[in-house]
Amino acid sequence: MSNTTAQAALDGLIGAERIAALNDTLGKAKGLPGAAYGPDFYRLEQTDFFPRLWCPVAFASDLPDPGDAYPVDLAGWKILLLRDKTGELRAFHNVCRHRAMQPVPSPCKGLSHITCAWHAWTYGLDGKLVATPTIGGERENASPDFDKADTDLRPIRIAQWFDLIFVNIDGQAPPFDEHIAPLADLVSEFDHTKLARAEDWSTVYPANWKVTVESVLEEYHIPFGHPQLTRGVRRHNPMLHGAGRTFMATSNDREYTDRAKADSAMGMPGIFPPIPSTDPNGTTPNRSHFIVVSPTGAMQTRSDHMLLGLMLPNGPDSTNVRFVHYYVGDAATDPALAPVRDKLVEAWKVVFAQDVDFVRNTQANHALRDEVGLDTRFSPYWESNLRQFQQMVVEVIRGD
Ligand code: FES
Ligand SMILES: [Fe+2]
Repeated sequence: MSNTTAQAALDGLIGAERIAALNDTLGKAKGLPGAAYGPDFYRLEQTDFFPRLWCPVAFASDLPDPGDAYPVDLAGWKILLLRDKTGELRAFHNVCRHRAMQPVPSPCKGLSHITCAWHAWTYGLDGKLVATPTIGGERENASPDFDKADTDLRPIRIAQWFDLIFVNIDGQAPPFDEHIAPLADLVSEFDHTKLARAEDWSTVYPANWKVTVESVLEEYHIPFGHPQLTRGVRRHNPMLHGAGRTFMATSNDREYTDRAKADSAMGMPGIFPPIPSTDPNGTTPNRSHFIVVSPTGAMQTRSDHMLLGLMLPNGPDSTNVRFVHYYVGDAATDPALAPVRDKLVEAWKVVFAQDVDFVRNTQANHALRDEVGLDTRFSPYWESNLRQFQQMVVEVIRGD
């Protein structure tokens, strides 16, 4: 959609008055209307939000070897991720140039070529169309009448940061290094290159992707929704950071009344090696970061492990959530530590399951509250990031 058409569609759903109310002083500001969480707004996001940003869509460790292929769905965009023969990551629209079937409908390994199942058009791992069996008749794999111009798979911009794979569909987002710099800077105190992948798990949140992101974006609800996270902790000392199109985060320097109690509440007896500091003379900071990697990723760091996550929309009112856990070196794979790692996975699953009722319930109320004419509000102390997220969504669609 052109910027003008997108703006007109946005104005139809969220008029200038609502946008002004969103941008008011935080204590007075009104959140996005319920319509922003419904199907019409989702269609607008499909055409005019997700394609414009660098979006996290998968983990590089999902496709570790040359010849691995991993299809993903980003709000309806079918994207084929590939690791080519040289080990380089590539992304293409997962759309066959013959009649538009998805050439790779499910993850696979050991590919030397991609062959579409329907009529066997075959592409190299660089996306080039290399064979069209019987296109010119039985035993005729070429046709003098067939113009082969523009028949390769259509590439998409791709980048990697830690284990997260990002794509930019419209090709117009800023260079990736520039894009990720503010987030790289925030977590630069930890040497994350020492981390290795361990367990992964997934779930479905019965809510719009923005309700899902909003549920992990603020820590206002932690003592009420996840009381186990406050056990043994005197103060969290939260610090909010944000660069909307790249990330929004809360960092915590915890003070403990009982560190062992805090660790065991997360199923964690404190036996994993700490993530090394990037300062050779420094010690690992006892700091955690809860980060939304805009718009569909998450990064949660503790001093001895990290989670990377994805929150990929699956329609207007459903979000596929995936998390991968990482530990330093062998601690990620050591079988002797597997029971402790499993305990930690279970503890995090409990945290995310606690949010499911909140997001389901809220999603159900978004249409209703528009009917009644009810707005949402922000805590000036805890939710400036949440407001920034909502502003970012509007700004991207407006083409600001
Ligand atoms: S649709 Fe792929 S070969 Fe026909
Ligand atoms: Fe939560």
